[in-house]
Amino acid sequence: MTLEEAMQGMKNPSRKKKLGGCIILGCIILIIVLAVVISQVTKKGKQNVNGFDKDFSITWAKNHTRISHHGERLELILDAESGSGFKSNDLFLFGSIKMDIKLVPADSAGTVTAYYLYSPTDHHDELDFEFLGNSSGQPYILQTNVFANGTGEREQRINLWFDPTTDYHTYGVLWNRRQILFLVDDLPIRVFTNNEDMGMPFLNQQPMNIFSSIWNGDKWATQGGRVKIDWTHAPFIASYQNYNLDACIATDAYAPCAMPSANKWWDQEEYQALSAAQQDKLRWVEENYMVYNYCTDVKRNPTTPFECTRNSGGFLGLGSLH
Ligand SMILES: *[C@@H]1O[C@H](CO)[C@@H](O)[C@H](O)[C@H]1NC(C)=O
Ligand SMILES: *[C@@H]1O[C@H](CO)[C@@H](O)[C@H](O)[C@H]1NC(C)=O
Ligand SMILES: *[C@@H]1O[C@H](CO)[C@@H](O)[C@H](O)[C@H]1NC(C)=O
Repeated sequence: MTLEEAMQGMKNPSRKKKLGGCIILGCIILIIVLAVVISQVTKKGKQNVNGFDKDFSITWAKNHTRISHHGERLELILDAESGSGFKSNDLFLFGSIKMDIKLVPADSAGTVTAYYLYSPTDHHDELDFEFLGNSSGQPYILQTNVFANGTGEREQRINLWFDPTTDYHTYGVLWNRRQILFLVDDLPIRVFTNNEDMGMPFLNQQPMNIFSSIWNGDKWATQGGRVKIDWTHAPFIASYQNYNLDACIATDAYAPCAMPSANKWWDQEEYQALSAAQQDKLRWVEENYMVYNYCTDVKRNPTTPFECTRNSGGFLGLGSLH
């Protein structure tokens, strides 16, 4: 029976045609159910997006925050009285975390807008984006860092290839058992691979909350601390919208997220290492935008930390993933 006949059967119900119609309808429902199940397992999508007022909590100075647009936008405000901050209500272990951020415009010298994942534990894990403000017209620096089991000191700094204060841009991590990508508008700016085979802890056991805050960092942030905050230009405002937490929510028992089941999209093979195209893009960032890398700071690290060869796009002569 064709679909047309089946439709006919539904319009002009004879016993036989009606039965056929039911079978077709049953098939269609089954296909829809299967499609939904498959897409949940393998596809990406908007996840855990219920509004800043529901998915996040203000952790510092509610009176210096604003939630608007029916929960779709959040602003953090820094002035001489206080900075402010928020964190996700859920803890996450693996997945894709993204947030659109527009940074403090014009004179942002001395301000730091931090956006990071952090595990509330003794030997904590942490993935950092820190945006270091600057005088009007001077470039922001984006500093990233990785802490694994309490050990960090892996700072990298880049300039951006756009002005991060005029529009929202997407800052995110793609995190699975094999590697962690730091992404800016989906372009990899940093990779941190699993080096457990070389005895280094990886971020695979401690669920993390998402945090963000704005604060006075003028002791060190801008041009090495030489440029201080000009409070006559306050308030300094960072804006957030359009987050997507397509990641495994870890409740008290985080085992389900940690289980090596290959049924989450971020565990698929294509996400276990940089693609050649991603490798090229990372190399482009290193070549054109990187202004500091702990890997090549011979004062701090007379011998190159071993993980650096694996975590490079290839430009710095440290070797590469391919
Ligand atoms: C705003 O909150 C901060 C931090 O909780 C507090 O120090 C400050 O006094 C508050 N300001 C006002 C005007 O209520
Ligand atoms: C994490 O650090 C603590 C304290 O140094 C240590 O006891 C523990 O074995 C470490 N865990 C891993 C997985 O390396
Ligand atoms: C600020 O601008 C100066 C001058 O262009 C530059 O050297 C510095 O890297 C910029 N960023 C920060 C955070 O200091």
